[in-house]
Amino acid sequence: MEIGERKWWHDKVVYEIYPKSFCDSNGDGIGDLGGIVTKLDYLAELGADILWICPCFKSPFVDQGYDISDYCLIDPVFGSNEEMELLLVEAGKRGMSVILDLVANHCSTEHRWFQEACLDPEGKYGKYFTIVDAEKETYPNNWRSYFGGPVWSTLPGWPGKKYLHVFHEKQPDLNWENAEVREEIFRIMQWWLDRGVRGFRVDAIMNIKKPNLFLNFAPDREDGLVEMETVIKHAKGIETFLGEMKEKVLDPYDAFTVAEICGEREEDLPVFIGPEGMFSSMFDFRETTIGLSEKGWYDRTAVTADQYRDACFGAQAVFNPHGFQTNAIENHDSPRAADRFLPREAVADAGKKMLAMLHFFMRGIPCIYQGQEIGMENISLQSLTELNDVSALGEYGYAIRAGLTQDEALQVVQRYSRDNARTPMQWSADEKCGFTEGKPWMRINPNHTTINVRCQKDDPDSVLACYKEIIRLRKSPAYHDTLVYGSFIPMYEGEHDLMVYRREGDTRILVAANWSNCARRVDIPACFSKVLMNNLGEFTSEKGEGIILQAYQCVVLEAAND
Ligand code: NOJ
Ligand code: CA
Repeated sequence: MEIGERKWWHDKVVYEIYPKSFCDSNGDGIGDLGGIVTKLDYLAELGADILWICPCFKSPFVDQGYDISDYCLIDPVFGSNEEMELLLVEAGKRGMSVILDLVANHCSTEHRWFQEACLDPEGKYGKYFTIVDAEKETYPNNWRSYFGGPVWSTLPGWPGKKYLHVFHEKQPDLNWENAEVREEIFRIMQWWLDRGVRGFRVDAIMNIKKPNLFLNFAPDREDGLVEMETVIKHAKGIETFLGEMKEKVLDPYDAFTVAEICGEREEDLPVFIGPEGMFSSMFDFRETTIGLSEKGWYDRTAVTADQYRDACFGAQAVFNPHGFQTNAIENHDSPRAADRFLPREAVADAGKKMLAMLHFFMRGIPCIYQGQEIGMENISLQSLTELNDVSALGEYGYAIRAGLTQDEALQVVQRYSRDNARTPMQWSADEKCGFTEGKPWMRINPNHTTINVRCQKDDPDSVLACYKEIIRLRKSPAYHDTLVYGSFIPMYEGEHDLMVYRREGDTRILVAANWSNCARRVDIPACFSKVLMNNLGEFTSEKGEGIILQAYQCVVLEAAND
């Protein structure tokens, strides 16, 4: 493919930090910027290059900081603007860049703009939002918010008016049709870039362009509503807004952006990524959305190895001709990868390493979510009151209405809740897992006694050591060009429980995994004889007869030069 000029971010490794749960420096039980600073050496040693920090701005935390009430102020719970500046400097000293979360589709009902809009819906700030006349119990359309229920709520103080929110009612959508709103957002972006931030993870960006507000769609659940994913597919012209952002902000700063884009059409990819794309990169959500159901979490199905492989290969086929996708198997919105993708029997070090190797060596920018590098797992939920995730309560309700017992519904939300990814980072086996000296804001996973950084740090067989080795390989001069820019060639696409691919550039690399619980022989070209990585002790290669892969074994092989 034609990738255009090489960019500074093409070969980087991104590490996502969910600040509330990463490291607490002042004993209040909530992770903060000071805590991140104390872990910069750890992150540098791991090999992270770009730190994506989830929202840390002033917020009432209805949606854990994705409801922002002041975009240019660090929330006191996380520290201060000075501490952010310190973090930027200290990360820079270690060769790392920082990107922030750009939440531009919506703000918080506590943002000054919304407060002003409530005072005068016809005035300047009323036009920052989408406010329509609608009497009680009437709605301009049948769109369902991502967190359940209609996208409309009554404007405080105005019983005859409703405002639009595609997420929580405390997250009013900003009206991007209004040029003044766009300018506000661009100014905020510039403000942070001027302070040394190198770019943004761009939140929920597809939602900034809506179709005609009065369009109803065929309902997809008994509530008579339709999911936003369907609605957004009918919106046209987002590239005009994004083009403005690129020209005014992103290009002049040579910023790195990774966009959260879901449900894109293949023909639109050049709009988003590649030489002319609006963003540097975008996440691929094919893997994380396997088994999803329109009905709700209760109807989701477990992921099979073949589905996982097909999703990855499908994404490679679609993205690679255009540009760079960002490969992530975990984030703050999804359960832990080991629990999500592996059968129960394989949720152990070998399986976790297999997942790591498979996802890291595909083409694209690898992104690690905090704790993934030590193999953190889901947390078990004893009662509904332990839930923190705003989306999980709605899903519990859908499950109950569908006829599940309370116990079954609890198990459903336990499996898919975003809380699974948001438990405190497990730094040590200590009572508070090295995360805090105080009372942690969220329950610590009891398995921190065995899964933690301290016990893995010096263990060459640990999941952490495996991640370090993967990153070292990706960066080593011998393999860098192949792993970053080389072509991606899928192999054995129809084979059950097998995931094999090659990367080809100035070297040839093959990654092969047996995603099943019994050993199997795989015929691969004999030239792939040098073992670069192997997640299990023994490995058998039989001259001319292929290789034998044990259950959940993954190997990375290099071809000898002819
Ligand atoms: C996507 C974010 O990742 C998620 O955590 C958040 O709830 C929504 N966007 C709304 O901002
Ligand atoms: Ca704190």
